[in-house]
Amino acid sequence: MADKDRVFIFDTTMRDGEQSPGASMSLEEKIQIARVFDELGVDIIEAGFPIASPGDFEAVTAISKVLKKSIPCGLARHSKKDIDRCFEALKHASRFRIHTFISTSPLHMKHKLNKTPEQVYESIKEHVSYARNLTDDVEWSCEDGTRTDMDYMCKTVELAIKSGAKTINIPDTVGYTVPSEFTKIINTLLNKVPNIDQAILSTHCHNDLGLAVANSLAGIQAGARQIECTINGIGERAGNAALEEVVMAIRTRNDLMPFETGINTTLLSKASKLVSNVTGFPVQYNKAIVGKNAFAHESGIHQDGMLKNRNTYEIMTPESVGVKQTSLVMGKHSGRHAFKDKLISLGYADLTDDVIENAFGKFKVLADKKKHIYDEDIIALVDDSLVLDNKANTIVLKSLKVFAGTGEPQKAEMKLDVSGEIKSASETGDGPVDAIFKCIKNLYPHDVNLQLYQVHAVTEGTDAQATVSVRIEENGKTTVGQAADTDTLVASANAYISALNKMILKRGKTAPMEQENQKVRGI
Ligand code: KIV
Ligand code: ZN
Repeated sequence: MADKDRVFIFDTTMRDGEQSPGASMSLEEKIQIARVFDELGVDIIEAGFPIASPGDFEAVTAISKVLKKSIPCGLARHSKKDIDRCFEALKHASRFRIHTFISTSPLHMKHKLNKTPEQVYESIKEHVSYARNLTDDVEWSCEDGTRTDMDYMCKTVELAIKSGAKTINIPDTVGYTVPSEFTKIINTLLNKVPNIDQAILSTHCHNDLGLAVANSLAGIQAGARQIECTINGIGERAGNAALEEVVMAIRTRNDLMPFETGINTTLLSKASKLVSNVTGFPVQYNKAIVGKNAFAHESGIHQDGMLKNRNTYEIMTPESVGVKQTSLVMGKHSGRHAFKDKLISLGYADLTDDVIENAFGKFKVLADKKKHIYDEDIIALVDDSLVLDNKANTIVLKSLKVFAGTGEPQKAEMKLDVSGEIKSASETGDGPVDAIFKCIKNLYPHDVNLQLYQVHAVTEGTDAQATVSVRIEENGKTTVGQAADTDTLVASANAYISALNKMILKRGKTAPMEQENQKVRGI
């Protein structure tokens, strides 16, 4: 009775998924995936098609040895050689499944198999019972099931069960069916096959019309209790039902589908990334559950709603699928509320309304031009707004000479105007940039952490204008300085000085002037 409401998850990423053109996986990669799937709670892992190649045989063998909870499974056509090879690969596991299949649709029987329905019927008896002698866990599939005559399907299913199959899988091999038809197929089998209570019905839906998940869910609502699926929905042509989607649909709409799976959903994101890395198939940004944008909001209206109550625009939590947090992506559709919230998360809790307004205006202009707005861009915008508020810079670069090249240690000679006083210094360093930053430190003693030093070429060619970004941190406050020059070293000095000037202004907001003067004097 307890199993009645349990839906078994049968993963075929390494068999049907690997059949996607270009998705082949190495032995080590398959073992790594199998370990993650075991941890994820997949009930049955179809690890390959052992007769297909020595590589597949080796992978199924290795996987059958490493799984702790999941049941390993291998695929075999209706051929004793196939079934034997499958057994040889799986026999190391204490429990394993042999999955054997044959086409039952008129089209496949005539054109692919060149067999009559009677011959196919006989073949079921022979091969399912052959597999049953090797294991008590046999699955039988009627390939192209959804284009099979229903009366014939009922007869073949009854025979497969009589011959020893414990799982009957109904593939929508070409992704042709729609949910109402799939429901009807499962209902018919449950009503017409006399021994159907001795087997579990399974779905195996392809996604040619984008209906694989919908058909699989229709199947379990009608009485099937196993779903065959793949991570990220990979598989032949348009792929299979995506494991993460069926599992999260069952979990999220448990009111309509009161079933449970053994999947630890917090590992879904990890499994998706692994499969994507191994196959080299990127996950589309808007992919349900595991896409980069699945828990990201850019629209101002949505961000505002999310900040008030996350249920307004999220039906499941990112944490439930292993994503750290919702991201409110800053872009041209973002509103003031989200912008302010972002500023707080970046450590700007005490800005005046004028500064926020000024920075928000600049942010909207930038967002119109730039695809990705990074935290550094926002910090730079706010800091520029702060600088506008307080025009005078404490430190100004007056001159810079750099000695670089092989042999000698690199050296910088620098003159700075520090609060109206001209000061000079000379320093050697581990490279010219290090020498420059040491000069600045000598002339304006300070103690900050350099978090980022980045050079971008703005134009092409050796005369390119370089933009340098420097991010520094002091007591939890961060500033970003940016400067452009055809001389990268001058740009580096100015970017660092700019970040420092902004830090001085930030300090001034919280620290008394005397403290500032003490820092200038190096006390
Ligand atoms: O799509 C299909 O019919 C299959 C079978 C081998 C189960 O992958
Ligand atoms: Zn398939």
